[in-house]
Amino acid sequence: MTDCDASVKAVEQVGPGIFRIVLLAPGTARESLPGQFLMIEASPGPFPLLRRPFTVSSADRAGGTLELLFRVTGGGTGALSRLSRGDSVRVLGPLGRGWPVSDGRWLLVGGGMGAAGFPFLASRLGPHDILLGAGNAASLAWTPPGALLATEDGSAGTKGLVTCLLDRIDPFSYERIAVCGPVAMMRAVVAALPPGVRASTLVSLESRMACGWGVCGGCAVPASGGGFLRCCADGPVFEASELDWDRIEEAAP
Ligand SMILES: Cc1cc2nc3c(=O)[nH]c(=O)nc-3n(C[C@H](O)[C@H](O)[C@H](O)COP(=O)(O)OP(=O)(O)OC[C@H]3O[C@@H](n4cnc5c(N)ncnc54)[C@H](O)[C@@H]3O)c2cc1C
Ligand code: FES
Repeated sequence: MTDCDASVKAVEQVGPGIFRIVLLAPGTARESLPGQFLMIEASPGPFPLLRRPFTVSSADRAGGTLELLFRVTGGGTGALSRLSRGDSVRVLGPLGRGWPVSDGRWLLVGGGMGAAGFPFLASRLGPHDILLGAGNAASLAWTPPGALLATEDGSAGTKGLVTCLLDRIDPFSYERIAVCGPVAMMRAVVAALPPGVRASTLVSLESRMACGWGVCGGCAVPASGGGFLRCCADGPVFEASELDWDRIEEAAP
């Protein structure tokens, strides 16, 4: 983990309120693994006070660049979207426990911006299938060839929620199932999987974060069997069975 000044190489709008930013940070790009995240000081001014967490969407080790995909939801993401080529941002990372990449076949299930980290994961996997869902076609953060799509308004793929695509795959044919999206979506996907498959299911969770590296306790997420786990240091990737989904849904930001 390093704390460095990263130079902005590009910022572009890729959808309604959705942006792609490319940062030059060779040491961080070299160290980053799929599922890890960065804490970014979005603005050099006093606000927002705290850095904001973003999943690494892709990392080019040779070129020294990192790519993030983000949706503008408030002051921090707004400031990030207004950066220009040549600006500099402070970046702490890579942080957290990422996806345990393995050789067998994986299924990736993403909801909305939850797919932001999947390009990096997919680039490091062998055989894999992808199911993606969002409210409408424009809100699909990433649409790789071959992915099965579902949108609530029917503007791309099947009309409905991403869970309706689970009928089109054999859940027993995967070594791992990776799920990332809003809490309610992840919970619904996990619940729809046969019990024997849930044990191999992983989720990437979001929580409000302050430090990002395990010291403040601000990102605590309820664990199954009681107690809490730190989203930033114990996760953000967890076995689905490690989490208490009832308490997480109540506390979701
Ligand atoms: C590990 C991790 C990885 C993430 N990766 C991405 C990513 O790749 N792309 C992306 O667009 N976003 C990602 N997020 C969410 C992103 O960090 C928040 O959208 C951002 O911090 C909001 O900051 P803001 O100042 O713009 O908004 P704020 O003014 O802080 O908040 C605006 C709204 O967003 C909600 N919000 C704020 N933080 C979070 C959060 N952590 N999770 C869910 N809702 C939140 C608030 O409740 C509020 O409704 C990630 C979060 C975590 C924890
Ligand atoms: S954000 Fe500080 S412990 Fe996780």
